[in-house]
Amino acid sequence: MTTSGAPGTGRTAGSRANIARQQRFWTRNARSWDHGAGDNPGLVKVVERVVAEARPAPGQRVVDLGCGSGQLALRLAPIVGSVVAVDVSRTMIDLLESHASAAGIGNVEGRALPIEHLDLAPGSVDLVVSNYALHHLRDPDKAAAVRQAAGWLRPGGRLVVGDMMFGRGADARDRAIISSKLALLLRKGPAGWWRIAKNAGRFLLRFQERPVSMNAWVEMFTAAGLVDVVAIPVVNEAAVVRGTKAR
Ligand SMILES: C[S@@+](CC[C@H](N)C(=O)[O-])C[C@H]1O[C@@H](n2cnc3c(N)ncnc32)[C@H](O)[C@@H]1O
Repeated sequence: MTTSGAPGTGRTAGSRANIARQQRFWTRNARSWDHGAGDNPGLVKVVERVVAEARPAPGQRVVDLGCGSGQLALRLAPIVGSVVAVDVSRTMIDLLESHASAAGIGNVEGRALPIEHLDLAPGSVDLVVSNYALHHLRDPDKAAAVRQAAGWLRPGGRLVVGDMMFGRGADARDRAIISSKLALLLRKGPAGWWRIAKNAGRFLLRFQERPVSMNAWVEMFTAAGLVDVVAIPVVNEAAVVRGTKAR
């Protein structure tokens, strides 16, 4: 898998500011995410659903966008040929590399780089996956990442995205997810009320988390020319969307 060098997206002032914010946030929080992710049953279910929808096979060249400390990349590596694992936080990539070497996994290449700047040769990849990362991108950068991924895939290759997927209350699923999140936090008393205030700010101002609905993801996949696009709700807020590059 070669890189063609010319970076594509993420060059506006808004994108640059977001990339810098994500880098700071995730460098600060890398160890606690690394520590907690494996014990979170909801997250594990989403990772497993991404793997199932990806149908990984021996010899495949795989890219994991926003790989964190390797929750998906290290799950796929023993099955496939190679994995390029990309994350904006150097600390996450360091954790991924140390987990890979502890597990004797030698076919994962970590790249500390924003997704928005990754540029690979067209048709050079069999599978692009991402878990719980793309909601951190600005909406135009999400669509650009899907278009870029579609371009990297060989005909018949797959893009599979697992993420929190809900809008701001336009449909019944959105409203059910938002109310269940609120109910959970309310039950925690004053600590939960503080989280509600903080999360409402993040959600309304969309400066840290920018989830969009399953339908919005389906539209992005379809607009990028992917076919057989399917959206699968997994747990509460989380869903998986997959699509295939036409042959
Ligand atoms: C919630 S964690 C998920 C990590 C991992 N994929 C998992 O399933 O546990 C989100 C990850 O996305 C990464 N991230 C956020 N914005 C990014 C960007 N613009 N480019 C690359 N990585 C990014 C963060 O550094 C973080 O590691």
